[in-house]
Amino acid sequence: MSELPKIKVTRNGPYIVTGEVEYVDADGTVVKTLAKAALCRCGHSQSKPFCDGSHREVGFEADTIRAE
Ligand code: FES
Repeated sequence: MSELPKIKVTRNGPYIVTGEVEYVDADGTVVKTLAKAALCRCGHSQSKPFCDGSHREVGFEADTIRAE
């Protein structure tokens, strides 16, 4: 039995997704299946939805995410 995918919020950086996940485009086509990925949170990546490191260049600062 596989573990559930997990999303970790990094400090002033991307969301780190671990666990096998299908990435699907707006038409429903699976474009990638990855066991680990970094998803852009700053909006500046040139390869969205994935992080390309641009958050460092733009000095991205994120609010803290709290569990409700
Ligand atoms: S979070 Fe890394 S480029 Fe946006």
